Amino acid sequence: MPAPLYEADVADGLEALAAEEVRRRLQPHVSMEPVALRGAVRFRFGDAPRRLFDLKTVLAVFQLHRLDVPRPRALLGDQHWRALCTAAAAIVHLHPPGAFETFYLSAAGAHTATMQRIAEGMANHLGLRRVQTPDEGHFLMRIRRPPEGSAGWDVLFRLTPRPLSARAWRVCNYPGAMNATVAHAMALLTAPHPDDIVFNPCCGSGTLLIERGLIAPAARLLGCDIEPAVLACARENALAAGLAERIEWEAWDACQTPLPEKSVDVILSDLPFGGLVGSHAENERLYPAFVQEMARIARPGARGALITHEVRLLNTVLEAQTAWRVEQVLKVTLGGLHPRIFLLRRQVW
Ligand SMILES: C[S@@+](CC[C@H](N)C(=O)[O-])C[C@H]1O[C@@H](n2cnc3c(N)ncnc32)[C@H](O)[C@@H]1O
Repeated sequence: MPAPLYEADVADGLEALAAEEVRRRLQPHVSMEPVALRGAVRFRFGDAPRRLFDLKTVLAVFQLHRLDVPRPRALLGDQHWRALCTAAAAIVHLHPPGAFETFYLSAAGAHTATMQRIAEGMANHLGLRRVQTPDEGHFLMRIRRPPEGSAGWDVLFRLTPRPLSARAWRVCNYPGAMNATVAHAMALLTAPHPDDIVFNPCCGSGTLLIERGLIAPAARLLGCDIEPAVLACARENALAAGLAERIEWEAWDACQTPLPEKSVDVILSDLPFGGLVGSHAENERLYPAFVQEMARIARPGARGALITHEVRLLNTVLEAQTAWRVEQVLKVTLGGLHPRIFLLRRQVW
């Protein structure tokens, strides 16, 4: 019997990074499978499914059942239905009692009589209350046509009652907070090293620095934000992440820090986009001053990873200077936003 098949949702643009994490964490029990979908990674995994809860660059992991049936109604046929019920119940049993309370079915035509019977039947089998929005759903079931265009139907069950991107450490919510899986990916892209002095200007609620701190030790982890109130939020999150002792938070203007010249190895920042936080006019002043200050405090050879929606503005600012070389630009799509991650290297003069 082949190992069970899984599919993970990932931010569109970070598939390669997520696939690398899947391989790294799960070898030798994993084999990658092709997938004709953006924002997804597919693999077979032959060890305890609980190990999949540790994945940090994926939004959510689903068990995938590809069934050779002509239409969804056939899923209710005795043999398929029993197998699906057994698989779904096994997922619920991976968690403590009461972890799942609600059930949500996502499917094109979810309102049709057949889909309603499937949803009702599965919710009843699992003893869960049906809800009408995915955010409220603990147990998520998806039904779809195979995206590869092959025959049959796919049934997917999410393995966890909350997406993996919803980190347990996030006890203080901040409206402009980054998705933690994207933050994790950005931190990985700076090739974390235990000797790094890592600076996170414009840290907000601390997502980037906390994810970096959870990946590997560092010589110093330092975050700053101009809003003192948001630093209280970052402190609460760091405490919940077990990093309270390791991260320093400062109420500084990122464009004028007291840090010495050439003192930082890594700069990680989620710049104000001018949407929820800041405005385009403010950003036109902020971005050049920010890039200049980062060039002052970065050691020659330092790595930078900046994420922003203000792609044209950041491109213009970076083209007008020579201190930072742009090594890679990654386009990410998530929740209707299309920010880019700029990977930079401080030049040696
Ligand atoms: C997009 S938010 C960062 C969100 C953060 N990554 C998180 O997950 O919570 C941008 C942050 O930049 C801060 N900011 C704006 N101008 C700043 C400046 N000149 N110096 C330092 N922080 C600044 C804002 O207060 C805001 O918290």
